Amino acid sequence: MAVLELVNISKHFGAIQAVNDVSFSLEPGEVVGLMGDNGAGKSTLVKMIAGNFRPSEGRLKMDGSEIVLHRPVEARRHGIEIVHQDLALCNNLTAAANVFLGRELRRGIGPFQVLDYAAMYRRAGEIFNELKSETRPRDLVKQMSGGQRQAVAIARTRLSDAKIVLMDEPTAAISVRQVAEVLNLIRLLRDQGIAIVLISHRMPDVFTVADRVIVMRRGQKVADKKIADSSPEEVTGLITGAIERV
Ligand SMILES: Nc1ncnc2c1ncn2[C@@H]1O[C@H](COP(=O)(O)OP(=O)(O)OP(=O)(O)O)[C@@H](O)[C@H]1O
Ligand SMILES: [Mg+2]
Repeated sequence: MAVLELVNISKHFGAIQAVNDVSFSLEPGEVVGLMGDNGAGKSTLVKMIAGNFRPSEGRLKMDGSEIVLHRPVEARRHGIEIVHQDLALCNNLTAAANVFLGRELRRGIGPFQVLDYAAMYRRAGEIFNELKSETRPRDLVKQMSGGQRQAVAIARTRLSDAKIVLMDEPTAAISVRQVAEVLNLIRLLRDQGIAIVLISHRMPDVFTVADRVIVMRRGQKVADKKIADSSPEEVTGLITGAIERV
């Protein structure tokens, strides 16, 4: 059964129709590449799945039942995690503090609770190890490379029992070696049965790691097909509008 289903989802901001009547479903352990030109509505679409925006119209279903998300924390409770395009990390904090931001570990009882830094450093270290990232828990985010920042953002999703991970341009601003690292992380999540939506402008990334590609143009879904049945040329045509829809 589909872990997530979008049924006729739309979103407008005033007169701007950012997302227009989009439907699709996502199976457990499936990687879907979400492609489209700047302003096509990709980020807006995943933000509705992550509880950042309420859809203007349409419904979301998880495991067959309708869900209504008012806030990101509600999406998280359903097992939906998002790695935002701008990453939204705190530069002045350590890697570990960013991983645990908003869900800090504490020790002690009742009013005598204190933050358990040792436990957070330890657990963050374990997650970076698991992700095969060289990121160190005590490093400050502002001194990190783009790829290490990605690892911190992805590590956040490992704290919860995620069923769906939405990644908005995780490879846009990082080096070739780091891209390979992020694609490996995606495979690692997939192998655990997590469904992934990967927004990317990079054709090679999508064709390397995705099972399916969805193309959006001006808010509408113009393609939704298996990677094996498509080609970078076709997807480019769909993105630009040279191909109307398939
Ligand atoms: N908070 C907002 N308020 C008003 N308009 C918005 C808002 N967020 C997005 N939009 C508009 O919605 C449309 C879709 O934007 P969106 O960010 O979803 O595009 P995108 O496909 O993610 O583009 P990019 O590839 O550049 O990240 C654009 O016209 C954008 O200006
Ligand atoms: Mg975007």
